[in-house]
Amino acid sequence: MPITFDINNPDPQTNFSNNREFADVVNVNMSRRRFLQGSAAIAATAFIASCSSATGTLRQQPAMAFTPITVGFGDEVVVPAEYQAQAFLPWGTPLLANAAEYRADGSNTGAEQEQQVGAHHDGMHFFPIDAHAAGTNSTEGLLVMNHEYVDPAFIHANGPDAPPRPADQVRKEIAAHGVSVAHIKDVNGEWQLLQTSSFNRRITGATEMELVGPAAGHPKLSTLFSPSGTRTRGTLNNCAHGHTPWGTYLTCEENWARCFVNQAEHTREQQRYGVAKENGRYYWETATPSADEYARFDVTPYGNNANEDYRNEANGFGWIVEIDPFNPNSMPKKHTALGRFAHEGIVFAAAEEGKPLVAYSGDDSRFEYIYKFVSAEVYNHATAGSHLLEEGTLYVARFNDDGSGEWLPLDIHNAAFQAAAAAANVQFSDQGDVLLNTRLAADIMGATKMDRPEWGAVHPLTGEVYFTLTNNTRRTEAQIDAANPRAENYAGHIIRWQERADHFTWDIFMLGGAPGTYTPDTAIELDATNHHACADGLWFDSAGLLWIQTDMSGAIQGGSTYGNNAMLVANPDTREVKRFLTGPVDCEITGVVTTPDRKTMFINVQHPGEGSTVSNPSSHWPDGGSARPRSSTVVIRHNEGKVIGS
Ligand code: FEO
Ligand code: CA
Ligand code: CA
Repeated sequence: MPITFDINNPDPQTNFSNNREFADVVNVNMSRRRFLQGSAAIAATAFIASCSSATGTLRQQPAMAFTPITVGFGDEVVVPAEYQAQAFLPWGTPLLANAAEYRADGSNTGAEQEQQVGAHHDGMHFFPIDAHAAGTNSTEGLLVMNHEYVDPAFIHANGPDAPPRPADQVRKEIAAHGVSVAHIKDVNGEWQLLQTSSFNRRITGATEMELVGPAAGHPKLSTLFSPSGTRTRGTLNNCAHGHTPWGTYLTCEENWARCFVNQAEHTREQQRYGVAKENGRYYWETATPSADEYARFDVTPYGNNANEDYRNEANGFGWIVEIDPFNPNSMPKKHTALGRFAHEGIVFAAAEEGKPLVAYSGDDSRFEYIYKFVSAEVYNHATAGSHLLEEGTLYVARFNDDGSGEWLPLDIHNAAFQAAAAAANVQFSDQGDVLLNTRLAADIMGATKMDRPEWGAVHPLTGEVYFTLTNNTRRTEAQIDAANPRAENYAGHIIRWQERADHFTWDIFMLGGAPGTYTPDTAIELDATNHHACADGLWFDSAGLLWIQTDMSGAIQGGSTYGNNAMLVANPDTREVKRFLTGPVDCEITGVVTTPDRKTMFINVQHPGEGSTVSNPSSHWPDGGSARPRSSTVVIRHNEGKVIGS
């Protein structure tokens, strides 16, 4: 019997908090009128002017001289004529030294998948092989990438068996999640995997991990596997990523909640994060023959206490995980101080000697929030390490309608937080409990509900922070605010802010939409060379060009207006925006990084052919012919070896 898996939607809306009062909504609508009349644009002009004065005339971005490409409809990756693009490291590529070859009929086993590149490539970073020295090597390095989820229609020979699920299918699906570390080298102009390198590593949904930070050891993290609440197994739904100033990789757990099921009464954590009520997304809990590793996805309380069952297993997910790619034997760390939610990614402000470290992370679900972490200890290049992420203050953003904004502390020792908790009649036992319930803590502080925060990027020269808000078709006219100014926002937008002494100022960089869409704050008007919808991936190269990747789904993807998902590049100084790449059918474009010399770019094509079946795939990319589609990295180079974007 065929079964369906609800895999390509964000977890359901779970924020029904009333943290914006009716009077505010009235004020918003008045503010919105002012916004449309241009006073917000005046504020934005001041925003930009002060950014520029802080940096002078130091911009030397590539010229973006390439000819922008048109909207794409074909089952192919298209780049400007001056460039070439080649698939690299697709799902199933043998990664470890003795790994089995990929079998095109989908018959690789779970054990084989554990040694092969995972599925659904997403966030990605290139660590030059000399990352701990000069960090300039552009011909050899470790390419580390996330594998966000799996499509059972394509991962098994003939699609998934109905529940109870065969244990090896479950093993394979769990193994296809997580992270790949791939040691790669440019050999005579062609990037190759060094398959015998000891750096190559798979981290999966089963790899043992350590919990660190204020929630580590919390009673709500106790399980049969780890009564002390300090260990858990696996990382799941690894969407975007980050990388630390000390050369480690961060992978972020996004739509993990529905991998778990509790058929009994839900805890407040399970309610607010959306744990499933009837079955897990992939029915992993039904794996037969059963094993502890699979049964743990059923978080229904069966035992006498938390040490006898997996009632707390889901609490071990929703974190940011640190991986040291240069130490293949290191145990990944889940950093609880960075908060627990549907983490899209994490991006750091430039580390400054003697000052706290600052990082930003979005919670990608409808009406969720944007967060900022500030380390307790100051950054010191000589001693910097993961301890900086283990203690600090987590803040959530409130975007005021006048173009200002505030960071609200989620700190049980903070008087304002204590007052808000008392007013809301919400109790937290300790800071670990606050972090386990990050969303609830943000609710009571009155954070601004955003249109699905995805990737963030920090301008390397000005420090401006940009964030994509990919879409939110559920926002009503009554729910608009200046930072989320459109009802039924199907096309998304990009917001940005500049930190000030005790607050921030913000404006909207670009609204997505059809040709003619106009953004008042920046006067960017989209045309046929750059119109787009659902910006998701976002990355600044070291010269200050902003790379923007789209993740449209449903009817607009492939439709006549927007075509297939795409990548654009913008120069925030000149407001020039050009379409640089279009992807194959039914994919998303995500993950972007270059080598330090910016002459090789790596991007990811995720889930080509999504929504179709193995008997009739809508895409055969990248293998072509009648092959089943595979997620894959793509290597992009200029035909004459020039800098990407020139
Ligand atoms: Fe996995 Fe929010 O995209
Ligand atoms: Ca994403
Ligand atoms: Ca997305």
